[in-house]
Amino acid sequence: MQINIDLKGWLAFGLMALGSHGVMADDGEVTPLQVIDAIEATFGVTPGERRNHIKGTCAIGEFVGSKEAAKFSRSTLFSGKPIPVIARFSLAGGNPKAPDTAKSARGMALEFTLPDGSLHHMAMLNTPVFGAAHPRTFLDLMVASKPDPATGKPDPERIKTFKASHPDNKAQADFLSNNNPPSSYANSAYFGIHTFKFIDQKGATTLVRWRFVPHDGEKQLDESALKSSPANFLEQALIKRTAQGAVKWDMMVALGELGDTQDNPTIAWPESRKQIKAGTLSITEAMPQKGASCEKINFDPLVMSNGIAPTNDPILLFRSPAYAISFAKRLGGE
Ligand code: HEM
Repeated sequence: MQINIDLKGWLAFGLMALGSHGVMADDGEVTPLQVIDAIEATFGVTPGERRNHIKGTCAIGEFVGSKEAAKFSRSTLFSGKPIPVIARFSLAGGNPKAPDTAKSARGMALEFTLPDGSLHHMAMLNTPVFGAAHPRTFLDLMVASKPDPATGKPDPERIKTFKASHPDNKAQADFLSNNNPPSSYANSAYFGIHTFKFIDQKGATTLVRWRFVPHDGEKQLDESALKSSPANFLEQALIKRTAQGAVKWDMMVALGELGDTQDNPTIAWPESRKQIKAGTLSITEAMPQKGASCEKINFDPLVMSNGIAPTNDPILLFRSPAYAISFAKRLGGE
């Protein structure tokens, strides 16, 4: 299946989901609108802004793909020509004032403009796995995380009940509690998490998972920095770092083997999988998002170039209509 649909198409799809219950990626019972409602109930609404990953920074740069990747995917991402990139780095969650020390996920979203003008998107996290195998788990996490009006914090009992009844949340939650957040967006790896398909010139498919590995090395805040760092340092650190020269990541692609999970983003593949270097991303400039090019982009992960395709991962398929609803609302000033 090849998916290459423009943003207006996905916006229309999201609006369709807004008006109806249970269209396509509804996971049986859970609809994208229900999830957006739950995110809004937990974090509140900041009009005109993203419902999730609200706090972020724009950046620009380019990507150069490798010949090795071109053997597995006919996508022009891997033509070897420099591909312009608009990027957005972010903190997970809908709280615009979340401190940069929060032990939540960090995001890196990329929009590639291919030589023929078409787009390819990736929206990744700094965790190797996701915290939900099905939209139901994500919905229940949002509901359980809603602050108790008496304390302003989530009710610990509800969180306990959520954890006990949703073991698919554990791997990501453990990663986030055992790994302090990165000291800079430039010092983090970012994972595509889902399994995707690479399709070659002859139509042969290879199952893949990718991650972006930073040339600057991975560094986490130590315990004292976690306590003493100000609420906002990530944006300025990235702006300063790019002013000194391009920040680079290698796109490393793991090639799947028989039996590797295709549709469960909570389960990592063994580290022993063969990896190829599929290209290098260079981020050359970063800037606050207000009025910058990343602000009005919907980094829909199903916007893909010919040669890369989605699997049936229910989370991957659910993201697209959920993002479209958030995008439609924020563009409308809601
Ligand atoms: C049920 C699962 C998920 C839901 C409901 C969800 C929901 C959302 C929403 C509503 C947005 C804001 C969209 C916008 O207004 O532009 C968003 C942003 C984002 N999500 Fe997800 N998400 C899910 C899973 C994931 C996963 C698995 C990843 C990573 C593999 C991810 C990475 C991101 C990133 C990086 C952004 C920020 C994009 C940007 O900078 O604009 N999300 N998510």
